[in-house]
Amino acid sequence: MMGAPNNRVLISSATAGAGKTFVSSNFATLLASSGKHVLLVDADLRRGTLSEEFGLQRKDGLSDIITAGLPIDRAIHYHVLPRLDVMTSGTLHPDPAGMMTSDVFAQTLATLSERYDVVIVDAPPTLLASETAAMAPSMGTLLLVARADQSESGELLESVKRLGHVGAAFHGVVFNAVDTTQRHYRGYSYGYGYEMYRREPAHALGEADTVMPRRIEPEHATS
Ligand SMILES: Nc1ncnc2c1ncn2[C@@H]1O[C@H](COP(=O)(O)OP(=O)(O)OP(=O)(O)O)[C@@H](O)[C@H]1O
Ligand SMILES: [Mg+2]
Repeated sequence: MMGAPNNRVLISSATAGAGKTFVSSNFATLLASSGKHVLLVDADLRRGTLSEEFGLQRKDGLSDIITAGLPIDRAIHYHVLPRLDVMTSGTLHPDPAGMMTSDVFAQTLATLSERYDVVIVDAPPTLLASETAAMAPSMGTLLLVARADQSESGELLESVKRLGHVGAAFHGVVFNAVDTTQRHYRGYSYGYGYEMYRREPAHALGEADTVMPRRIEPEHATS
């Protein structure tokens, strides 16, 4: 994020279920608790679930700004946590790719960037939804989430390639659900981690391999 061309952080993965929404929510909470004014946006307009993480209604969100001219202020849930606001996906669409290349989407991003210290975008999986590549070039930072027992390195590399094709700079991988008690995690994670992690059994799932403080329970949120 430091040195990035703008304050927007896109969080995607190669395929579904890697933990994008989990990581985005925790990352946003962490940044807000450290004093940043943060907006968390659900840009998965096919099946966004960010609203559920915070006990919010999905309706009146990003897609409604783009397709129905909903004012930005009405699409934001303010003070979901101290310094953390949330924009849900809004009305779901089967093929929202074109929406992410629209002028109104670009203008919305620009407005949000001015209002917040950091805008975190929970995006759909790169290999399953073309809109992730469509919006990637307008993001200052791109992160891919890889899940310990599930993500394949080939899929991850293909995702990086697709993002590169559209001119988006890729910045890093967040390893999620890594069992930090495993010996090889400590010894080899720096250089070889990805291939090794994915062979861990399902019961090895632990906390995200990030500085995530805790899960966000709905009772901590306001609607
Ligand atoms: N580190 C973790 N520890 C425990 N549970 C986790 C962890 N990461 C994710 N989960 C759980 O795994 C499930 C899938 O995670 P999540 O919804 O964040 O994935 P996603 O990548 O956003 O999925 P989708 O592609 O469907 O949007 C959720 O129930 C989530 O709570
Ligand atoms: Mg998700």
